[in-house]
Amino acid sequence: MNTDKINIAVDGFSSCGKSTIAKGLAAKVGYIYIDSGAMYRALALFAIKNGWMTEDYINEDELIRHISDIKIEFKPNDDGTQDTYLNGENVESEIRSLQVANGASRISTLGFVREELVRQQRAMGEQKGVVMDGRDIGTVVFPDAELKIFLTASPEVRAKRRFLELQSKDIDTTYEDTLANVTERDYRDTTRKESPLRKAEDALELDNSYITIDEQLQWAVDMFNKITKRE
Ligand code: DC
Repeated sequence: MNTDKINIAVDGFSSCGKSTIAKGLAAKVGYIYIDSGAMYRALALFAIKNGWMTEDYINEDELIRHISDIKIEFKPNDDGTQDTYLNGENVESEIRSLQVANGASRISTLGFVREELVRQQRAMGEQKGVVMDGRDIGTVVFPDAELKIFLTASPEVRAKRRFLELQSKDIDTTYEDTLANVTERDYRDTTRKESPLRKAEDALELDNSYITIDEQLQWAVDMFNKITKRE
């Protein structure tokens, strides 16, 4: 049996269930899960709170000046999942709002933002044994990741999932607004100049519109076993 650790990249559109698969796979194989989207969200929250980002403006000068002041960490919580901390403060629930999601999508188009967060993400994966989900993990952050998964699902299925998730967190929104948000983010994620969302050539694609979470997880574990020759 081969016990060398690998890095696993899980990429795909927003609300595709990347974090469910990435978290589940990390738990099954004993790896560390890292939510790279939470890092863009935390940075967006930081910019919003400091008044450097409004609906139609980003103060790039201030952001460049202060980007190295932010410290993003992930710590386990009582639910057995993990929370995102921004400079020591738990911001897990704040970063899940639609306002912050939109801000993250906009801030993630900036080259200097990507450079800094990619640097931090690579450092987290240096020792291997990491499952990281995002948009550019298999293409930019870990182009040498031994296992790359690319998830897809239709925009309607994804909007429905995100809407139910937001409702369960008592976040006030409608299905129509959620679908518009998903579509807008898809467009921005795939057309931006810096690291647009695309499938790495060597990524394994999985459309999860109509399969269960257990089926997806089993498929991911099978792929992991195949690559690490653990079966
Ligand atoms: O996965 P998410 O919805 O939490 O990501 C929030 C935003 O951050 C999303 O609009 C795209 C951006 N993002 C990115 O550009 N690169 C990543 N690796 C992860 C997220």
